[in-house]
Amino acid sequence: MTENIKEKCDKKQNEPAASKEAKEAKEAKEAKEATELKDLVNGGFPFLEKKISECQKCALCETVTNKVISKGSKTPTVVFVGEAPGKNEDETGVPFCGRAGKLLDKYIAYMGLNQEEWAVINTLKCRPPNNRTPTKKEIETCRPFLTAQLSLMNPKVIILLGNTAEKAFGETLEWGEVKKTKIGQDILKTVDVLKIYHPAAMIYQRSREEEQYAFLDRWKGLWQKPPLDFS
Ligand code: URA
Repeated sequence: MTENIKEKCDKKQNEPAASKEAKEAKEAKEAKEATELKDLVNGGFPFLEKKISECQKCALCETVTNKVISKGSKTPTVVFVGEAPGKNEDETGVPFCGRAGKLLDKYIAYMGLNQEEWAVINTLKCRPPNNRTPTKKEIETCRPFLTAQLSLMNPKVIILLGNTAEKAFGETLEWGEVKKTKIGQDILKTVDVLKIYHPAAMIYQRSREEEQYAFLDRWKGLWQKPPLDFS
């Protein structure tokens, strides 16, 4: 047997053991995530917010001024999920409080949502230096917090603002598409998830504004209450 063929044979023989190990590692990671998630949800909002404030699971905590957790209702019909805090948010601890936030406020008003009906959260709770795009690892590390927030808020509709929020869900959606998605391994009921453009992107691409509002028009039945029937 030539060296090359022998190498191939050895590799083949080792394959099942390697893939079994990888499968076990994946299952162990999922089980750990599920336990962490259950603990976070069982502790309720105060416990979850304390855990976020104290989190040092990745290097972003070293450069952060304030963790940015949420704004709006704790029992919303619609939750908007952004990317990560920017400079203004890092300084204040409030999500979407800058220019992009002004645009998001316009969408919320257009959708006819009152104060109790919406909440805004981010995929990451810490600002990445220079507002760089969050890495896959950062999204994964922060995901239990996002999932726990959504589980506790238990909304009817989740609106993903751009690609980073979409990545956290492990689902691929077209712009303006809705998918029914199960979140948080049995903790949360199935919800409608809609992906729209991130408001920050809209500041520079005003040409997409019509399309953005068309998405909100198309899916308004998901969050608007039917008119009262007096007949
Ligand atoms: N962009 C985001 O994604 N989140 C914020 O909080 C602000 C800007």
